[in-house]
Formats: sequence, C-alpha cells, structure tokens
Amino acid sequence: MKKNLFFMMLLLPAMAMQSYAQTRKADPALLRKADETLQFAARQYKLMMTHVPDSVLPRTTNTKNGSLVTSKSNWWTSGFYPGTTWYLYEYTKDPAFKAEAIKRMELVKKEQYNTHTHDLGFMMYCPFGNALRITGDTAYQSILLTSARSLVTRFNPTVGCIKSWDHGTWKFPVIIDNMMNLELLTWATRVSGDKQFEKIARTHANTTMKNHFRPDYSSYHVIDYDPATGAVLAKKTHQGAADSSAWSRGQAWGLYGYTLMYRDTKDKAYLQQARHIADYILNNPNMPADLIPYWDFNAPGIPNALRDVSAAAVTASALLELSRYTKNADGKRYWAAAEKMLTNLCSPAYLAKEGENNDFILMHSVGSLPHDSEVDVPLTYADYYFVEALMRYKEWTK
Ligand code: GLY
Repeated sequence: MKKNLFFMMLLLPAMAMQSYAQTRKADPALLRKADETLQFAARQYKLMMTHVPDSVLPRTTNTKNGSLVTSKSNWWTSGFYPGTTWYLYEYTKDPAFKAEAIKRMELVKKEQYNTHTHDLGFMMYCPFGNALRITGDTAYQSILLTSARSLVTRFNPTVGCIKSWDHGTWKFPVIIDNMMNLELLTWATRVSGDKQFEKIARTHANTTMKNHFRPDYSSYHVIDYDPATGAVLAKKTHQGAADSSAWSRGQAWGLYGYTLMYRDTKDKAYLQQARHIADYILNNPNMPADLIPYWDFNAPGIPNALRDVSAAAVTASALLELSRYTKNADGKRYWAAAEKMLTNLCSPAYLAKEGENNDFILMHSVGSLPHDSEVDVPLTYADYYFVEALMRYKEWTK
C-alpha cells in the first residue's frame, strides 16, 4: 500500500496545528507523571491484548461479577481500543501495538458502510484517523471517506442536523454527543475537496448551537425535531439526571466538539461557544475541588454522587486544545484546569493498579446511571481521551 505524505498533511490532526496556537509551559512534575502513566498504560494494554478474545473489542467491566465486557464492531465504542493502541504505538514505537491496532481495525472496518448510526466519527475516525496520521497509509483514507459518506446519509436539510438514533419513540433525535462525529466530515472535505461534508458539519454545529444550549451554556442531552418541518418537539435527557440538568459527559462532548469545529473551520463563533462551555464547566459550583466532575452537574446526592472519570478525560483533552486557541489569562486558566484534571487522573484515586481493572487504565466512569448501565466502571473511551490528553500534553509543551 502506498504512503503519501501529502495526505498525511491533509489529515491535519490537532497535533499538527501548531502554527497559530499558543505555546504553553509544562509543569515538570506532570510531564514526569505523564511519562510514567503512559508507560503504565502500555503495560496495562499489553495485558489487555492477551485477555480480549480475537473477535471482539473491550468495552467495560460487568458490575455484577467484575468480568470483562466486550462489544461487537457495531457498538459505538468499538474504535476506541484500536485508537488508544495507536497512541501507545506512537508513544512506545513497540510494533506489538501497531499489530494489535491493525488486527482490531479489521473487525471495525466493515462499519464504514453502517448508515444506522451517527457514531461513525467515534468508531472510524479514532482508529483509522490515527492510523492514517501515524502511518500515512492511504488505504485508510478510502475507508474514512466511505464512512463519511455513510454518516451524511443521516443528514436532514430541513432540520439542519444529522439524526442520532434510529431507536426509541423519538421523531428525529439529536444528541449533543453528535458534535464529536463532525471531525470525520471536516476531514473528508479537506481530503476529497467535496465541500458538502464540511457544509453539513457546519450546519449541524450551527443548529445545535441554536437549540441545544441554555442561556448559561449548559446543554440539553437530546433535542427531538420534527423531520418534516425542522421544529423542535422536545428537549430531553437520556443519560442525565433530569431534562433540565447538565449531564457531565454531554458538556464534555460539546466542549470538545466546538473546539474541534474551530480548529477545522477557524470560525470564531465555534471558539466562542467552546469558551462559554468551558466557563460553564469550570465555574460550576458543583464542580469538585479535584476537577473530576460528578456524573451530572445536578446529580442528586452531591457531594456523595458518583464521579464520571470519562467526562474528566474528554474535558481535559479538550481544554488543552482550547487553551492553545485562547490568549491571555483565559488560555492559561484552561491549561491550568486541564493540568489539574490530568494530575488527579494520574493519582491512585482514579488510575488503576497494574494487572487490575480488567486491564483498563482508569477507574470510576459512568455510562448511563438512569439505565443502571456501566455505573462506576472503567470505560474504553475514558482511556482513549486520557491517553490522547497525555500525548497532547507532551507534544504541546515541546
Ligand atoms: N455517546 C454516548 C455516551 O457518551 O454515552
């Protein structure tokens, strides 16, 4: 398969976007911790490789009996394990990680044709985007373009959004999480020259900005639209504590999503939105002192509510990037908050012990508390965004 430097450049990952970004100073203690933790993560994932059956992907831990829970490729988290494995290959240069990533991507590859999910950004861009960035192998590019074409089949121009779910009694549900899948589309325009992908991404981001956010810049989880008229039918939650609450991972998806939309379009409205979301999160009176959020900013029982480490990992990675696009004291504030989150995630309160936690890196995430699903467990995407954030920290303080 051909290597093509030109397309590597077109990929324009966040790490390459250094030219207009602020440089930041490293905290030497955190830099040391990041290395120790990445080395630990590599050892932990070496164990995981030997424990996960060949035909599936690791997902979480069973809360009843502590066993490993895996998924098939069509589950929304299927791309995170090979994605993390690529980061660990990039860090260690150990060919075993590359081989493992390629092996697991073979399972996920067929999802490029899946038009029944909005999660193709998560499922495909995390593994295949990193594979393309790291190896330059253009075979990954056609898989990603097919994935982008599948994703845009879910766009309704009357609503101005990509439909999130096909299940439930919703008419046309759109969840804040969907902002994360737009990265695949902005990438597809850069590579193919077809402006339609980015236009759809921008339209989705603009519609979401209009309808998903409250005046304080917290976001609803689900907006249900009338697909015939585009009217908003309902503003609800699915995984949060209440329709009116701020589900923590949802806030994190919004923050990361608008940051990446600014990175890829340079539209200041997206930067402004990301900053508003960051300020909502960081100024929230219910944010704990260690900056690892409760599973919902309005969870019942605070301060005894469960934390969601996955929300912290996504938020930390996004804040590092947002900081680079934000001048002066605010930029430093975002950077310092991300440093504090990462320092605490690297502590024994959240980081697993070697050989424990079903070989996942982080403990104490919450998938969906209202459904009593994945409560206080490791989650494959908490690991992905944590490892990404540690890699970003090392890269952006060079
Ligand atoms: N995207 C699904 C979740 O965050 O749980």
